[in-house]
Formats: sequence, C-alpha cells, structure tokens
Amino acid sequence: MISPKIILNNGIEIPQVGLGVFEEDFDISKTKEAVKYALEVGYRHIDTAAVYQNEEEVGKALKETTVPRNEIFVTTKVWNSEQGYDSTLRAYENSLKSLQLDYIDLYLVHWPVKNKRKDTWKALEKIYEEKRVRAIGISNYLVPHLEELSTYAHIIPAVNQIEFTPYCNEKDTLDWCRKNGIALESYSPLVRGLKRNDPPLLKLAEKYGKSTFQILIRWAVDQGVITIPKSSSPNRISNNFEVFDFCLNESDLESLSHLHDGTRVADDPMDYL
Ligand SMILES: NC(=O)c1ccc[n+]([C@@H]2O[C@H](COP(=O)([O-])OP(=O)(O)OC[C@H]3O[C@@H](n4cnc5c(N)ncnc54)[C@H](OP(=O)(O)O)[C@@H]3O)[C@@H](O)[C@H]2O)c1
Repeated sequence: MISPKIILNNGIEIPQVGLGVFEEDFDISKTKEAVKYALEVGYRHIDTAAVYQNEEEVGKALKETTVPRNEIFVTTKVWNSEQGYDSTLRAYENSLKSLQLDYIDLYLVHWPVKNKRKDTWKALEKIYEEKRVRAIGISNYLVPHLEELSTYAHIIPAVNQIEFTPYCNEKDTLDWCRKNGIALESYSPLVRGLKRNDPPLLKLAEKYGKSTFQILIRWAVDQGVITIPKSSSPNRISNNFEVFDFCLNESDLESLSHLHDGTRVADDPMDYL
C-alpha cells in the first residue's frame, strides 16, 4: 500500500499518512521495530521530536531498513527548552546526530514559545537557506501565532502541525493555512483512543466497514490534511494504513466536523500567546 502525497509550498512532496512515534510513557523500546515494520507495510513518513527521546531508535531503524533514505520523509522538532537562535542551531545538529542523518526532511518549531519563537524561526530559516533541511515549519500555531509569524517570516512555513480531529476541529486554522499556502498536519488524529466508542463514529465505522480509527484518519485525508497516527503494535500500524480504499462522502465528512467538543490530548496552544 502507498500513501498519497501532498506537494508542499516549496515543491517537495510529503506522504499524507505517516507514523507518529511519541510514546506517552517514554518507553522507547518498541520504536525501532515499529518504524521498521511501518516501512515494510508501506509507510514512508516518520514523525519524531527531540523531546520524544527516541530519535536514536528511529535512526537505527532507518539504518537497518532496506528502504532507501531518499524514499523516507523524516520530521523532527526543536523542543521548547532549546528555543532561541543559537540553541536551535545546536539542537538541529544534535537531532542530526541522534538520527544519524545528514539532513532532515522537515524541521518544526515544536511549540510557539513566547519571546523565543521569532529567533527560533530565524534559525530555521538559516538552516533552510543553507540547504541543510528540505522544508521548515511550525507546530501548535493557531491563527494569532500565524498572524504574528507572518510579520517577521521571510520564508512561509511549509507545514503547521496541530491537534486536529473532529473533536478538536480547528477550522479557522485550517482555513488560514489553506489561504496562505501552508499544509496542515494533524497530530493525535486518533484522539489517543478516547473516542473509539463514540456512537456517531461507530455508526460511520459500520457504514463503511472500517474501524473508528480508520474513519478518523480518513476524515483528515479527505480534507487534504497530512496525518500521523501513532502505534507501536504491528497489527494496528497495518490497520491504520488501510485507509486508501475508501473515502467519506461530503455529508459524512460534514457530520464528523460537527462533533467538535473541544477535546484535546495535548496542551492548548492559546496558553502560549
Ligand atoms: N507537535 C506536537 O505537539 C505533537 C503532540 C502530540 C503528538 N504529536 C505527534 O502525533 C503523533 C500521533 O499522536 P499521539 O501519539 O498523541 O496519538 P494518536 O495517534 O491519536 O493515538 C495513539 C494511541 O492510540 C493507540 N492506537 C493507535 N492505533 C490504534 C488502533 N488502530 N486501535 C486501537 N488503538 C490504537 C496507540 O496505542 P499502541 O501504540 O499501543 O497501538 C496509542 O496509545 C505522535 O506520535 C507524535 O508523532 C505531535
């Protein structure tokens, strides 16, 4: 199976469905095998971050797989405590070292840390201008953060990675990003399983002959959003990738979009104004 790709605003392609590797309990013992298995079943996009403490494990998987490096899209992120101009430049080098790579495909500002985010962005622009990374972007930027960024950015971010699900339906941010050529990427697309038995979701799962998890992934895909469901179980890694043989019709997409109830599994970016 193969994921469709999205073309970013600098012309490079990103596989629309990737594998997230954040382990909530920081037990990273399964990361390497999860990434290798995902690559075997067809994933070509891996999303990690310095703060997940498993860049090294991801790097080992990338070394051991038979899939060539240039076919795999790797994202990592600068953590909050490393933000600022010089420290971000150093953080990028550290991530390269941990991942044992000589370039990263997409480097993101993990959170919009107040008083630091501008210098952090300037550092990402420098890394990009030196052609050491294929694309740069941001994460957890809502409209106020995006508007502020647009006053100082010379390079428009390629991607904005945010929590985006029917239950945390950041429609204004999606619209803003679309208007400004930024690809939206949905994290925690499965709401970490919290909504697995929500009746409207179960009804659609039955209608399409899919799991509620697959319906959630497809809700992102059908809106042209990139998404990175996480699993370290082979079975679930495969299931989460079996989403390219159906699509949700307009009215089902719309009904899912009305499930918004403000459920978040991560922090609210509005606390970072
Ligand atoms: N930028 C940011 O600030 C940010 C924040 C959060 C997450 N992220 C990224 O987004 C990725 C995904 O988000 P997430 O990890 O928070 O949550 P998620 O993908 O919504 O859910 C992951 C959870 O769901 C379980 N799961 C996965 N597939 C399943 C299935 N088919 N059936 C039953 N359970 C299933 C996983 O358990 P098993 O592993 O046991 O299958 C895990 O507990 C992260 O890994 C990370 O890469 C980014």
